[in-house]
Order: sequence, then C-alpha cells, then structure tokens
Amino acid sequence: MSNVTVFTHPLIKHKLTLLRDVETGPKDFRELVKEISMLMAYEVTRDLELKEMEIQTPLQKTTGYKLEGKKLGLVPILRAGLGMVDGMLSILPAAKVGHIGLYRDPESLSPVEYYCKLPTDISERDIFLLDPMLATGGSATAAIQFLKNRGCKNIKLVNIIASPEGVAVIEKDHPDVHIYIAGLDEKLDDHGYILPGLGDAGDRLFGTK
Ligand code: PRP
Ligand code: URA
Repeated sequence: MSNVTVFTHPLIKHKLTLLRDVETGPKDFRELVKEISMLMAYEVTRDLELKEMEIQTPLQKTTGYKLEGKKLGLVPILRAGLGMVDGMLSILPAAKVGHIGLYRDPESLSPVEYYCKLPTDISERDIFLLDPMLATGGSATAAIQFLKNRGCKNIKLVNIIASPEGVAVIEKDHPDVHIYIAGLDEKLDDHGYILPGLGDAGDRLFGTK
C-alpha cells in the first residue's frame, strides 16, 4: 500500500473514536467530521510548493516563504463528502469547490451519477476528492475517472474510513492517486458496509435515519 497514508495523530484517533460511537448524534457527528477534515488538510497539503521571498520584520529583513499559489480544487462526493468541505476550506480558503453526486445502488452496490457541477478550470487544479467512506471503492473510482475524463491530472483521495477492499480497487484502477485515510478498517460486510466502520455516513451527518 505504497500510495496510502494512514493518519496516526492522537487527535485524529480520539475524534475518530467519538465519530464511530453509535451514541454520537448528527450535531456532534458533523462537528467531528469537520474537525477531522481540518486536521487531515494539514497533512494532505504537505507537498504544496513554496516560493522564497524577502520580507521586512519590524526589526530587520529576513527570508520568508509563501505558497506558490497553485490552484486547488475540493470535490466532495455527495452527500456525505459535503461534511468534509468546511474543515478543508478553513485551511484552504482559496480552493474552489466542485460537486459530484453519486449514490450506491442498494442492490448492485454500483455508483449512480445524479449531479455534477465543477469549476470551469477544473483541469488546471490539483484536486482533493472528499468522501468520508471508501467501501467497495465503486463511488471513488467512478468519481476519479470522471475527473480524469475532464482533464484532471493531480488527484488526491481523502477518506475518513476505508476498507482494505476499497483501497485495493483504487490502487488497481488509479495507481497515480494517493489515498489519505484517518482509519483503515477490517473488511466489508455482506451489504458493502465497512466493519467496524461508523454506519451510514450520509444518514448520520444529515439525520436521515
Ligand atoms: C456512501 C459514501 C460513499 C459511498 C461509499 O454514499 O459516502 O460515497 O457510500 O461506498 P462505495 O465505496 O461502496 O462506493 P451513499 O451511496 O450512501 O450516498 P450518500 O452519501 O448520499 O448517503
Ligand atoms: N457508505 C457508508 O456511508 N458507510 C459504509 O460503511 C459503506 C458505505
């Protein structure tokens, strides 16, 4: 799993544990998803390029560093990916946000597309594809292909929880895509849910069950 980064930071582990807990209601669930996404943003931006510059402090001149100003794009997979946008935007306020709507057909578990709205210059942007759950990998691999078909070249996949099966699908279909995960779980159940997981992320975020 050379293309995978699993976060081990104590703050992320602590918040992920609260997130999994069946007693955590939608308000706290949303806050935790936001906070975990914000913490993940710190690591997924580690390779952003800097340019050196000279600045004047109140005391003397010194060398400083500013971001090169590369164009970034956040693309949440609806619905549950929406929960990760605010946390990421709090660290990357200049990023543009595109949306891809996919749901898993409950019988076939295959992704069905129902919405797409992307920034017009999406192909020039480095993309962070956001979805709390990577289960069978069907939704993420379809969304990545969708973005590639529109010219995107540098895509990073950011998930809160992933299954080994989902990771294997992305590694096979898109070996160029790095995957960032807060928790790598054990396996999928017979209905394609991640075990131990956290249940249905969209329903828990929006209180629909
Ligand atoms: C969930 C989740 C992912 C997908 C993961 O969305 O947010 O998008 O399932 O499963 P996969 O890896 O097997 O494709 P869901 O289809 O439940 O839609 P929702 O976000 O609208 O609830
Ligand atoms: N989607 C979810 O929200 N949870 C899972 O465990 C699998 C897919």
